Amino acid sequence: MKSVLLLLCVFIVCCLPADKKDKFTVVVFKHGKIAGDPEPFRKLLKKFEDENPGIVIRDEMLPASTDEQHQFYVINLEGKSSDFDVLSMDVIWVHEFARAGWLRDLTHMLSGEDRNDFFPGPMQAVTYNNRVYAIPWYIDAGLLYYRKDLLEKYGFSPPVTWEELIRIAQYIISREPGLYGFIWQGKQYEGLVCNVLEYLWGNGGDILRDGKVVIYSDENIHALRFIRDLIIKYKVTPPLVTTAIEESTRHIFGNGRALFMRNWPYAWNIFEKEGSPVKGMVGVTLLPSFSKGPSASTLGGWQLGVNKYSKHPEEAEKLVEFFALPESQKILAITLGYKPARRSLYSDKELIKEQPFIAGLYDVFMNARPRPLTPYYMMITQVTQPEFSAALSGIKTPEESLKAAQRQIDYILAAER
Ligand code: GLC
Repeated sequence: MKSVLLLLCVFIVCCLPADKKDKFTVVVFKHGKIAGDPEPFRKLLKKFEDENPGIVIRDEMLPASTDEQHQFYVINLEGKSSDFDVLSMDVIWVHEFARAGWLRDLTHMLSGEDRNDFFPGPMQAVTYNNRVYAIPWYIDAGLLYYRKDLLEKYGFSPPVTWEELIRIAQYIISREPGLYGFIWQGKQYEGLVCNVLEYLWGNGGDILRDGKVVIYSDENIHALRFIRDLIIKYKVTPPLVTTAIEESTRHIFGNGRALFMRNWPYAWNIFEKEGSPVKGMVGVTLLPSFSKGPSASTLGGWQLGVNKYSKHPEEAEKLVEFFALPESQKILAITLGYKPARRSLYSDKELIKEQPFIAGLYDVFMNARPRPLTPYYMMITQVTQPEFSAALSGIKTPEESLKAAQRQIDYILAAER
């Protein structure tokens, strides 16, 4: 019914005589595919329209993959397209887009109090040369999902170290035919880099340190070998992960076919929906650590910006402002599981009642590690993705792939300096 109304609105706008048409502004909002039921999101857009008579939102979805969305924006913004007004950006793109001059400066939209309320990670991601180019929308960090019921059945607590995860997974899958042990995102794409970094950081490694490329290191070789061993040596991860993304792993786990899964927070809401085969059986905790190192989680998340070439920047800003409100971020958290970028919501009683584990996520988001914050990040990831993938599928040894990545990233950074 709501979408019929929206269509009617768009139809009315298109068919109005020229003098009346001026009274409506159509703001085009581009964002990635909504995981799960998109209806609550549409409802929120309708709320904005009701509160802002004269503005009609045209909601245009891009594919879910961050890499494909990035490609769309680069092509269109390089061509100075004004076909969309508000865009949702991955944490890793804002510096690149700001440097290219594609984003409207939104510094005036954030009061000091607001700046303080948003988590520091996304705030750094949206700030370039001391100016703010986007407003944090929702935040992500890698988490470990587990089957509470199965761990209880066999008398285990959730694993704290990778060694424990392997031991528990081997024990349970040998007694539960058809169950996968541990699934994660291993396809050659951005999600793979997010996954691999969690092991590199957890083992004391990194890609860049103080501007220097440090990807070819013993720590990283060991960590990358360990990820491959999850598949071939410990056999707790099925080889299918080398083609898996967030949604494919979410479907497998959601159908009750895996014991552990690494994923972003959004999946929990979907598991808890009426009719879900794993409703009430899923626990969420920190990613395990190596016996000596810390638990490391990659910072992800999405920010809203305004296209520099937009013909309706003021109206576009209004939509961004609306999604930045605590109330809107709370609705999206409850309905879609998008975790608020605002810190204050993590002590919100209603939200905690709906999602008991949310309070525990505060520290995870405070400590989540950003991928290298540089306008050249996309070049770096385009080098690391195939190298990590080659190491996981055994085409190269971890030494060979990291050495090759080191050489190429050194070259990129030297050329850009
Ligand atoms: C999620 C994260 C994003 C990350 C992507 C990788 O959407 O929020 O930061 O780049 O997954 O697939």
